[in-house]
Amino acid sequence: MINLVLDLDTGIDDAIALSIAAKNERINLLGVTCTYGNVTVDESVDNTLALLSLLNRIDVPVYRGRDRALISTSTYVPHEAGRKIHGKKGSGDISLKESKRKAETTNAIDYLSSLMMKRDDFTIITTGPMTNLASILLSYPSLSTWKGKIIFMGGALTVRGNVNHFSEANIYKDPEAAKIVIESGLDITMIGLDVTERIRLYRKDSEKWKNRKSEIGRTLGSMLDYYLDNTLGLDETYVHDPSAVISSLHPEFFSFISLPLTVETESIDRGRVIVDEKRLIERDKMVKVALDVDRKKIETFLSHFDKYL
Ligand code: RIB
Ligand code: CA
Repeated sequence: MINLVLDLDTGIDDAIALSIAAKNERINLLGVTCTYGNVTVDESVDNTLALLSLLNRIDVPVYRGRDRALISTSTYVPHEAGRKIHGKKGSGDISLKESKRKAETTNAIDYLSSLMMKRDDFTIITTGPMTNLASILLSYPSLSTWKGKIIFMGGALTVRGNVNHFSEANIYKDPEAAKIVIESGLDITMIGLDVTERIRLYRKDSEKWKNRKSEIGRTLGSMLDYYLDNTLGLDETYVHDPSAVISSLHPEFFSFISLPLTVETESIDRGRVIVDEKRLIERDKMVKVALDVDRKKIETFLSHFDKYL
């Protein structure tokens, strides 16, 4: 069994990642912490609660996290590009039925930090800016020796960014936070654009999901249709966040290389994940970076996902 906490900026690909984690029999989903990014943190909470209810997983607690980047002085307002890709509220062109449940009264930082202090037999997967995790590491330095695993979807090491030439969206939205996490020396795996842009979900997947005739099948299928139309505009699209969850189940689908990574916070390449040449020799605080993937195996895995819907 894999114990997971997801940290999501719940837009469309986050929703698919959440659904895989909520339904896979090898995953024990302990909780979901929410962050801003594709949507505001409050929209991320609402979407997560609504989806968990459709997934029949109202047992999974949801926690509200930070509403802005570490050095920002105002609540994050999603960019036009994010609104276009994920829809006005992060669920494409359909409205999710509001859940009767509310987020827990404990916030994401308190919840996750106290869980980390109690146990290390779980993995944290982040699919948005890493502000929540960085806030925890800043507030509780003793957690720098935490023995659990972290997988983050973000960064672009060998390919161009998707915000600009250098930077990927999740890192770009809070480079200071990403730097703190990536340089922490914890057990960290990067699932970046290097691999996620090679893996595809197809129109035939959305058709299959909708054909399940369940509310969650129809909802996720329509969300994927919207995402297909607004990313590449083709009958296939990238698989960013779901790949991070799949990597926890099937690390053997990926090839990793360990590198001493850092994040640029100054100049034109602010938000760029790069190798820290100062640590090339000692090679300390390494991050496992996925640089290749067996796309056939992942796409086969995804093609069977409809059975859970
Ligand atoms: O760059 C892709 C990432 O940015 C994904 O996590 C997507 O959901 C957005 O957050
Ligand atoms: Ca995301």
